[in-house]
Amino acid sequence: MTPDDAREVLAAARRPVALTGAGVSAESGLSTFRGPGGLWNDRRPEELATPEAFAADPALVWSFYRWRRERVRACAPNAAHHALAAFEAAHEGFVLITQNVDGYHRDAGSRAVIELHGNLMIDRCSECGAERPADPRRDAADALPRCACGGLERPGVVWFGEPVTRIEEAFAVAGEADAFLVAGTSAQVEPAASAARVAKRAGAAVIEVNPEATPLTSIADGAFRGRAAALLPGLLGGAR
Ligand code: OAD
Repeated sequence: MTPDDAREVLAAARRPVALTGAGVSAESGLSTFRGPGGLWNDRRPEELATPEAFAADPALVWSFYRWRRERVRACAPNAAHHALAAFEAAHEGFVLITQNVDGYHRDAGSRAVIELHGNLMIDRCSECGAERPADPRRDAADALPRCACGGLERPGVVWFGEPVTRIEEAFAVAGEADAFLVAGTSAQVEPAASAARVAKRAGAAVIEVNPEATPLTSIADGAFRGRAAALLPGLLGGAR
């Protein structure tokens, strides 16, 4: 499949769907998890991104997430996020499934977004579940954030070992897709990566954008090696 073919397939799709990962925000200046400069290269997810880690040392876990919030506040969506938002505006029925927790897809204007791993910029009470937007002043304080109910708040992300609450919805959307774009994910984390397999089994054309090959490359009908911010505006620019 050539880039022109991929553009046509995406533009003509009745139900185009995309799955994005950390690579889509790399050019905004946010670190990916794996690969060069990846967050998990010199940190252990077990110590920072599990309910057990939070129970054992909430201050350590919060210091990691507060630092990531600072990065999200300091950076901004890039051409890849904007291309996906513009595509949604022009293609009714498009749904964006993301593993990213930075909220940049919504910031760029995407509305039909399934945030599979939650949102970093939300505080959620670990007792009553109440949520509120992250506040830079609260994040700068020494004290850990507490809910009005007295419970300790946590970042609104999905940690390893926790259920991915919107996965059924994501698989249902993937099962309806006739074109499925996968961008900027190493496809190493399940169940998210399997959304592409669900789409493929249902007959969708799978189109991958990534500088490197991934476990999904073997099922891709078109695999384009390069950066999301460089390639997505072209691939998503076709008119229906
Ligand atoms: P990873 O860090 O595992 O993978 C990032 C992918 O992006 C790699 O395949 C890179 O080759 C690719 N990449 C790097 N720069 C890129 C660019 N400019 N354009 C396009 N692609 C680029 O990130 P995810 O697959 O999103 O989980 O990771 C999945 C999950 O693992 C995350 O959601 C997070 C993490 O632990 C939770 O937070 C629960």
